[in-house]
Amino acid sequence: MAYSEKVMDHFANPRNVGELPNANAVGEVGNPKCGDIMKMYMFIENDVIKDVTFKTFGCGAAIATSSMATELVKGKTISEALKLSNMAVMQALDGLPPVKVHCSVLAEQAIKATISDYYQRQGLDPTIFVGELKSCEHEDESCSCELN
Ligand code: FES
Repeated sequence: MAYSEKVMDHFANPRNVGELPNANAVGEVGNPKCGDIMKMYMFIENDVIKDVTFKTFGCGAAIATSSMATELVKGKTISEALKLSNMAVMQALDGLPPVKVHCSVLAEQAIKATISDYYQRQGLDPTIFVGELKSCEHEDESCSCELN
């Protein structure tokens, strides 16, 4: 399966790239298997994600999904952003090849990690709002969890 035009567009011209100087939430997630890292920055005010940017050191699909994910959560409330699934990001990109599905999971996790950081900075327990962040520590090739 080839990449869709939307994936190629967001890979070649990623939206919302870079650091956000006035960020009040920063999250970083990595995939232990491929080594790719996604860092997300948000400025949140009155429960609304007013601005969001990212830096991704990873494959093209990871860059495209981070770009689309930031577009989808910008201007949304925290609770709306937390409902954004990797499947929704993939759908917005007109799909990804099956071997690249895990890259979209990274984007979903980056949003959750960033919002967790927002709550942490306010002295609140993020797991109450965000839940436990999924992570895969499995090293072996046979691992089929969704982060690999
Ligand atoms: Fe690592 Fe895509 S191959 S995130």
